[in-house]
Amino acid sequence: MTDQANPPAVKKLFIKTYGCQMNVYDSQRMAEAMGADGYVLTEDQADADMVLLNTCHIREKAAEKLYSDLGRLKPLKAERPDLKIGVAGCVAQAEGEEIVRRMPLVDLVVGPQTYHRLPAMVRGEAPAILTDFPPEDKFDHLPARTSLNRATRRAPAAFLTVQEGCDKFCAFCVVPYTRGAEVSRPVDRILREARDLVDRGVREITLLGQNVNGWHGAGSGGEWGFGRLIRALGGIEGLDRIRYTTSHPNDMADDLIAAHRDVPQLMPYLHLPVQSGSDRILRAMNRKHTAAGYLRLIDRIREARPDIMLTSDFIVGFPGETDGDHQDTMRLVAEVGFGTAFSFKYSPRPGTPAHDRPEVDSRVADQRLQELQGLLTKQQKAAQEGMVGRALGVLFEKPGRQAGQMIGKSDYLHSVFVDAPQAQVGDLVRVRIVESASNSLRGELAA
Ligand code: SAH
Ligand code: SF4
Ligand code: F3S
Repeated sequence: MTDQANPPAVKKLFIKTYGCQMNVYDSQRMAEAMGADGYVLTEDQADADMVLLNTCHIREKAAEKLYSDLGRLKPLKAERPDLKIGVAGCVAQAEGEEIVRRMPLVDLVVGPQTYHRLPAMVRGEAPAILTDFPPEDKFDHLPARTSLNRATRRAPAAFLTVQEGCDKFCAFCVVPYTRGAEVSRPVDRILREARDLVDRGVREITLLGQNVNGWHGAGSGGEWGFGRLIRALGGIEGLDRIRYTTSHPNDMADDLIAAHRDVPQLMPYLHLPVQSGSDRILRAMNRKHTAAGYLRLIDRIREARPDIMLTSDFIVGFPGETDGDHQDTMRLVAEVGFGTAFSFKYSPRPGTPAHDRPEVDSRVADQRLQELQGLLTKQQKAAQEGMVGRALGVLFEKPGRQAGQMIGKSDYLHSVFVDAPQAQVGDLVRVRIVESASNSLRGELAA
């Protein structure tokens, strides 16, 4: 009930999100938590009462973006000293009070495991810097997804974090340090959140975790693996599409592969990062899988779901990488044929085992990156063109710029433009793909 005489003062919150989908999810949850304190989201930073930067630490460039954005906020803060500036996410976790030392205009620093306390921090009822790994589960202290207010944009596709942290300790990666140890959320909480989302019109859920397929938990009948969780989600009426990201090759259990065959709502799309095609480099990276093992796994997944599209992440120029190692990566890519992939030049990160190893010449790494991206772009184009003539499901997410046009995502996550004057956001329709453009497809409503 709202108090008519004393309506809560509406304050405006601007959030900028960097990094991975887990940060996108966290930003939504922080918006919901702040919504309970009367904050609504604004798209206009200059108009905000609070600016929250939800940051990423994965590569140096990602982390440096925070400081250039903070620099740009200086005039605004000088003009309006009561403007609150908060830093959340993985840079907050990694650098803590160092951020305030470097940029005194920052009022609050909150890590990925403490953001349930953000409203209290803003009210001045909790410390201004919180980057511990508290014993309590933050999700138990956040408002339920159903309490979404005007602050949160509604969309037919939603993220749902089911697993946090990582215990894999790849030699290049900050995630085990910024996100902490691997924790799986309990089955009942996940199913409840999924049902809440479906109740408010969500038709597609992407399950998130840095090592999402390593999820496990106690369910009915004993210990569940990730495949079992997907089967349970497949039983939710109104949940038409399930996706998940990101997975580690070593956690692709038989039951999960079988779920790709058996659960019709599970989309034929799998992001399975391999990082390199060279066993020597994979060992140096502490990836604990081989190139041949990855290829065998791909064979089994394709056997279970022949129309699946595979995507991956690659790092080039990892310390010690030779031309021969790079050619191994090129061969693996040629052999698998990816729908799309992210490829990055290695960036040494403070506190990680590979940080002080001798680096590959930067120009050589650039050349390798270019060569790899050339091949990946060709494969992406071929995969997209292979969609032409096919009838696919498309979930409309927003109206297009032209009258009567809708934009949605295909089963394979391609953006599809469709003339559909009668349709609404949230409709899931059959579309015949008629054309492949540079970064999207065009389709027509199928009869
Ligand atoms: N948990 C996921 C991905 C985590 S980060 C996994 O295990 O695959 C996303 C991607 O960023 C990684 O897959 C990797 O390709 C890239 N990445 C991580 N650390 C990096 C670094 N130090 N330099 C360059 N790329 C990096
Ligand atoms: Fe990082 Fe490796 Fe964990 Fe992925 S599996 S988050 S790359 S340490
Ligand atoms: Fe970046 Fe943290 Fe995600 S480092 S990739 S925001 S887990």
